[in-house]
Amino acid sequence: MIDVERLRADTPGVEHVNHLNNAGGALMPTPVIETIQQYLDLEISIGAYEAFESKVDAAEAVYGSIAALIGAEPSEIALMDSATRAWDMIVYSLTHKPGDRILTTTTEYGSNWATYLQLADRFGVEIVTVEDAPTGEVDLEALAREIDERATLVTMNHMPTNGGVVNPAADVGAIANAAGVPFLLDACQTVGQLPIDVGAIGCDFLTSTSRKFLRGPRGLGFAYVNATAGELLDPVFVDNHAARVTDKSIEFRSDARKLESWEKNWAMVMGLGVAADYAMKIGVDDIWQRVVALSESTRSGLLEIDGVQVHDRGKVQGAIVTFTVDGRNVIEVKELLHEGGINVSWSTINSAPFDMRMRGIDSLVRASVHAYNSEEEIAAFLDTVRVIAGAPIATA
Ligand SMILES: Cc1ncc(COP(=O)(O)O)c(C=O)c1O
Repeated sequence: MIDVERLRADTPGVEHVNHLNNAGGALMPTPVIETIQQYLDLEISIGAYEAFESKVDAAEAVYGSIAALIGAEPSEIALMDSATRAWDMIVYSLTHKPGDRILTTTTEYGSNWATYLQLADRFGVEIVTVEDAPTGEVDLEALAREIDERATLVTMNHMPTNGGVVNPAADVGAIANAAGVPFLLDACQTVGQLPIDVGAIGCDFLTSTSRKFLRGPRGLGFAYVNATAGELLDPVFVDNHAARVTDKSIEFRSDARKLESWEKNWAMVMGLGVAADYAMKIGVDDIWQRVVALSESTRSGLLEIDGVQVHDRGKVQGAIVTFTVDGRNVIEVKELLHEGGINVSWSTINSAPFDMRMRGIDSLVRASVHAYNSEEEIAAFLDTVRVIAGAPIATA
């Protein structure tokens, strides 16, 4: 059983806000905050390079912590500025030629979608959007039908930016592996929210961020590059950390760090490592159980309010709860919740262009729970939505 009181005591932000924007950026726990502050203090007092030299082992351990969280090896982890940059570094570093088919899913994230449009333009690559099952996750039979000898990549998010559906990553991995097609999993919304084992999923590549369910600082993402699949990548950028450079040649590193650049915000990187350790200490299985329970009660509470529509799909659903209020635009709803001390965010066509167009939805309010949220916070959120929707407040 997860100790919610302990989680809340570790999270100073809960004293100030009812934070239901964990899919945007979660509240950091004290061990992460203190690690960042202590590292910055060290840089301030002894110098930036000198601080790093005194913490080389801790810096190296960050790779080990992220790897342990997702069942990888430290050499298979590369640190980036964001999940998008991690994803881009993989996709742009693969070889593309006219007629290649990249298979993706309907809920692809907007930035990734932009990359597809550019690849289609530059290389004549065909982007194939595999249809969903009626329940909302990717249709595995449709995927198996679409994978042919021209397929060069399967990409999919584990959970989209604009809904709580959990896509069946291991089933997709099995289909991609059987066809010998590399599989890139965008786990931006799931690392730290639910258990992830890259071996069991069978992905060649995985990308994610620090700031969302992992509860690390902003400005960081990471890539997992399977030791064998790394050979497929010819890095689109290079520097003298990713490769050994002479006046006549460059020789790339053999591990995932061939995708990295040298300069890093080490205070934040240290915080990310501690965030991964913290998630493992709490137990990601327990985090997931609580997230499922809280998101289910949030969805069912919203469904009972007249004038509120819930938009999530999926056989398995997690932290992201999306809804609209009849007669109110999403910015208004977000602002009214904010006035009540409640943080949520919203998604537009820019967030998941194919899916939003397909479902005929312009924008959605997104409330996203984490294990540290309390039942009282969910109740306060539902009461405020009732007021916004003009519905009577429930009495206990
Ligand atoms: C599913 C998904 N993929 C990728 C991203 C991009 O993450 P970042 O903003 O760190 O680049 C997001 C961000 O919301 C996302 O929800």
